[in-house]
Amino acid sequence: MDYENSKLVLASDQVESGAVRWRSPSNIALVKYWGKHGDQLAKNPSVSFTLDSAATDTTLSYCAKARTDEGVSVELYLDASRREDFEERTRIYFNRLLPIYPFLKQLDFKIETSNSFPHSAGIASSASGMSALALCLVDLENQFFGGLESGGFDMRKASYLSRLGSGSACRSVYGHAALWGTLGDIENSHEEYAISVADQLHDDFKGFHDDILIISAGEKSVSSRAGHGLMDTNHYADLRYGQAKRRCSEMMQVLSSGDVERFGELLESEALTLHALMMASSPPYLLLEPNTINAIRRVQQWRAETKHPLYFTLDAGPNLHLLYPKSIEEPVRSFVREELLAYCKDGQYIADRMGNGPDKLEVSE
Ligand code: DP6
Repeated sequence: MDYENSKLVLASDQVESGAVRWRSPSNIALVKYWGKHGDQLAKNPSVSFTLDSAATDTTLSYCAKARTDEGVSVELYLDASRREDFEERTRIYFNRLLPIYPFLKQLDFKIETSNSFPHSAGIASSASGMSALALCLVDLENQFFGGLESGGFDMRKASYLSRLGSGSACRSVYGHAALWGTLGDIENSHEEYAISVADQLHDDFKGFHDDILIISAGEKSVSSRAGHGLMDTNHYADLRYGQAKRRCSEMMQVLSSGDVERFGELLESEALTLHALMMASSPPYLLLEPNTINAIRRVQQWRAETKHPLYFTLDAGPNLHLLYPKSIEEPVRSFVREELLAYCKDGQYIADRMGNGPDKLEVSE
């Protein structure tokens, strides 16, 4: 896929100031992306459920550039506070996008962003944050150059641009479920962007819940970015990439057949494999907390006692995601409240579920 386009340049007198606004959700990987190469390409395919309430709301405002220098110009506010750390990351991102969107250096940008989940929850926001920004950019392209006339909002391009910001973000632009990476048995699957696999979901997976237990909200000792890097020297890396590809194919079959039990086995094994890879890195590291393991044990016991299909997964951190069908919402909610909140930092948890994907919002005055 080649989105480079030197023609996307504004005639300098045509620019009026304006803004676009998108809300984009987070997603939870069922089969994990862990290890990358080239320009933000994954070493293995991954598949995820798109979440609903955990999301980022981003307004991208622009006006004619005040100074005539060559660089991109971005100010970024998170919850109304200027964040120079994110600003720098966004400037680097915009610079990388210049061959695709040369107009990015013709404008002054202001980004105002906020997350629906509390900052203290320690949840990674790169998937929702980078996808919300990429959606704003594709929207701007449409406004300036009329992309919509050639057939609707280009979610593939939004996914591609999201990927360049953060790998997992490319899966957030679709509702319900998404696949990123090439799988022989899935038509149109691609390594440069994710595709929607919502139409392949069995009814039993529709509206699946994800309750996120906030076990710890502290800064992680090793970032995801560094963790991906450590896969380059991981002794088990090649075995892992083969396994992940097979699991992705099997997960796709399971999602369409409705085999919730096998789904749970694969899901939990993926979570523990991800953390086993961290423990087997050089240098090794451990992101699980004692309460992550306490909660995992209690979930496994409860499942054995009640026979309810409640399963866990993990991101690259200590917080536990509990996935389950909506049919057992009531018993799970009571179980979480009565027993699992004791393992959470200040009793924090986020009750989320599968969502419909991003929304374009009205810009507030
Ligand atoms: C464990 O997408 O955060 O959540 O591409 O460096 O931004 P970058 O990494 P990121 O990695 C996500 C890792 C994961 C698994 C997954 O979401 O597939």
